Parts: sequence; C-alpha cells; structure tokens
Amino acid sequence: MLDYCGKYSSTEPEWLRICTRKTNLKQINPRMLSGHVQGRLLSLLCSMLKPSLVLDIGTFTGYSAMCLAEGLAPGGKVISLEEDIELERSISENIGASPYTDRIEMVFSDALDWLKQHPKLQPELVYLDADKRRYPEYLEVLLPMMPPNGLLIADNTLWSGKVLKAGSTAKDEDTASIHQFNKMLAAHQGLDVFMLPLRDGLTIARKKT
Ligand SMILES: C[S@@+](CC[C@H](N)C(=O)[O-])C[C@H]1O[C@@H](n2cnc3c(N)ncnc32)[C@H](O)[C@@H]1O
Repeated sequence: MLDYCGKYSSTEPEWLRICTRKTNLKQINPRMLSGHVQGRLLSLLCSMLKPSLVLDIGTFTGYSAMCLAEGLAPGGKVISLEEDIELERSISENIGASPYTDRIEMVFSDALDWLKQHPKLQPELVYLDADKRRYPEYLEVLLPMMPPNGLLIADNTLWSGKVLKAGSTAKDEDTASIHQFNKMLAAHQGLDVFMLPLRDGLTIARKKT
C-alpha cells in the first residue's frame, strides 16, 4: 500500500534517494528514516506554512531535516537536534549532497535539555521524532514556544499499534508515554489535532490562534 502511495506521490529529490540508500547500507536500524511518502508530506506541509524556523527533533541521517528545508521561507532555517555524535559524519555527507547546507543547523545534544535552554525560540513547525519515552515532556516545553498557527507533527504515535492496548497488555514505558502524549493532545483546548494512520502513526496538531 505504501509503495502505491509513493508511486503516485511526488518523487523525492535525488539527494534523498541517496540518503535512503546509504542509510540502508550503513545504519543498524534504517527503518527509523521517515522515508519517501512521509517525507513528501513533511515537505508539503512545510511548503504550505513557509516557516522561518523549524525544529527537527531526531536527525538520524538527515532525511526529515532535508524534507523540511524544502519548504522554508526565504532566509529560514531548520534546527535539527541529535544526541548521537557518531551520526555526525553520515549527516554531514547526506546534507552536504543536498542544496540545504546553509539552511540546516545541526545541534548535537539531548534535545529536551537543549530546548529547555532555548525557551525564547519560536518554531512555527516542529517535527518530533526522537526520545519517545519523553513525548509528554516535549509537549509541555514545545507548546509555549510555538506561535499561534504553529504545527507540531509527531511520529510513531501508534507505536506499532501498542497504544491500543496501553494500560492492559502493553505495560511498557514507551507505550504508556506515547498513549499519554496522545491523550494530552486530544484533550488540549488550544489545539486542532489530527491523527493520521500513516506508517507508525503521524499526529498533526495546530496551535489555535
Ligand atoms: C526515528 S530517528 C529520527 C529519524 C529522522 N527524523 C528521519 O526522518 O530520518 C530518532 C533519532 O533520534 C535520536 N535521539 C534519541 N533520543 C534523543 C534525544 N534525547 N535527543 C536528541 N536525539 C535523540 C536517535 O539517536 C535517532 O537518531
């Protein structure tokens, strides 16, 4: 099904195809990469919003950062956060092969710590795709930073379907945390929320004006 969606969605640029190929060859868990279909959605949403500042939380090999960079306002930037310094070389090779080297700023740090140290940033778009166990904490930190109409896009919100059994058979911390995050979003009066059953679940939340 996803292959069909990919076939009839816009093609991904060459540098993203190369990034995917290299990630499949070199990384232990290449499935973490957002991939063609989700990447085209990120690019489309970002192009509609034309943000000046995007936060990409969880760089991995740079795929989502490059998709998001496609839709920036002139002079805009993506700040991409990654805690694993061993990914630095792959990231720099992949982003270096794209036209977005000057639009993507890399930060190697624990993302939540870094965000807490930069509360004055005003990201109009955030892609949350790291550190699933702390999703609820990210929400508390990110929402006050985001301006009205800002978009929060969170990946893995279905967590392989385990969230459906949260509290009963699925008792692990990751599932509980993602389920808690989903509940917090749905109950928030200041957000329009849409949960898209794409791949592992992609939630899109807009901060109301
Ligand atoms: C699912 S992958 C990100 C995939 C990427 N967004 C893409 O589209 O290809 C998650 C990444 O988050 C990183 N990560 C995990 N915990 C983190 C944290 N606390 N701070 C920053 N990065 C973290 C991991 O090292 C991993 O590279």
